[in-house]
Amino acid sequence: MVQKAPELSVVARVLVSGGAGYIGAHTVVALHEAGHDVVIVDDLRRTNQRVVDGIAKLVGTSLPLLRVDVADEAALLAGLASQAPFDVAVHFAAYKSVRESVDNPALYYANNVGGTATLLSVMRKLSVHRLVFSSSCTVYGQPDVLPVTELSPIVVAASPYGFTKQVCEQMICDEVASSSSEALTNGLSLRYFNPAGAHPSALIGEFPFGVPDNLVPFITQTAAGWRPRLSIFGDDYNTPDGTAVRDYLHVCDLADAHVAAVDWILAAEPGVEVVNLGMGHGVSVRQAIDAFETATGVTIPVVMAPRRPGDVEQVWSSCAKAAELLGWRATRSLSDMMSSAWAWQQTLGAQSLV
Ligand code: UFG
Repeated sequence: MVQKAPELSVVARVLVSGGAGYIGAHTVVALHEAGHDVVIVDDLRRTNQRVVDGIAKLVGTSLPLLRVDVADEAALLAGLASQAPFDVAVHFAAYKSVRESVDNPALYYANNVGGTATLLSVMRKLSVHRLVFSSSCTVYGQPDVLPVTELSPIVVAASPYGFTKQVCEQMICDEVASSSSEALTNGLSLRYFNPAGAHPSALIGEFPFGVPDNLVPFITQTAAGWRPRLSIFGDDYNTPDGTAVRDYLHVCDLADAHVAAVDWILAAEPGVEVVNLGMGHGVSVRQAIDAFETATGVTIPVVMAPRRPGDVEQVWSSCAKAAELLGWRATRSLSDMMSSAWAWQQTLGAQSLV
């Protein structure tokens, strides 16, 4: 049965793994603004000190930052023990490139699955019983019915990355099902659709690691001249303009969803839930490029390219459960995603950093 979100925000001590990453940094700021005590765990391996500095400027102080690898159990335990107790953990720390996961599956299993196993083990030792997990709509593959609800079937993963999300969700279910008093009492897996955009201050955003796979950073890097052109992967899909359709949502809306998730899990009865987080409608690749050009006045050189292996044709979310369970709904526009992503990109300079 679906439990209602509590009316009032509860101040909690929250451990955020990957809190200097793209979604993590925006969530850390939103949690702090909501009055929570935040401790960041991030080894900065795939982000940058400037994101940490941006967080500090936005919240007006340096939040505790443990520079440890979540997959290093001894270091994680020692670091977190010095900051304990915690009421809840929000676990972002993971790699996220589908392409890289196909090239190097072991890396993804070690980091994403290994890191989650380590975190769960350390949470047991520190008596942290509530976990909000960063999952993905990739668990649904190409659904037969749109919009995708949380009852849509989980399919065989199209990539090792996708499989790591499925495995981690299952690990959380298994922990909660354990009768051990040390285990998790509550797990909440948030299945994100396509996060985009940056904080309106342009002090934090997605820090590029290598050539981006994702559409919006590739658009902004092309606009900045870091890339000569954008390839549109496929224009022969069965969609209104032939290009693939996704459900883009603003990263600040996503951050707000995590605040709602933390508030919810603090008051929830023991158990596991999964919730989709999206805008609830589809946007094609061409529409996304048009939205960027309209929002910024910058033209993107594009070329047509073959379909990208592993891509689904179209996917967008049902928002009903997020509204009912968390009292959350995305409100920021596609135009806002594009203009804020561009503002952040411009802070990174004219020369490619990668
Ligand atoms: N695209 C292009 N050109 C590019 C980059 C992307 O045409 O240079 C297209 C893709 O082919 C796709 C759409 O833009 O049709 C969106 O691609 P993204 O890589 O931005 O997003 P995906 O939907 O492929 O990936 C997202 C998450 C993954 C997750 C996946 C599950 O980024 O973490 O959804 O479908 F696994």
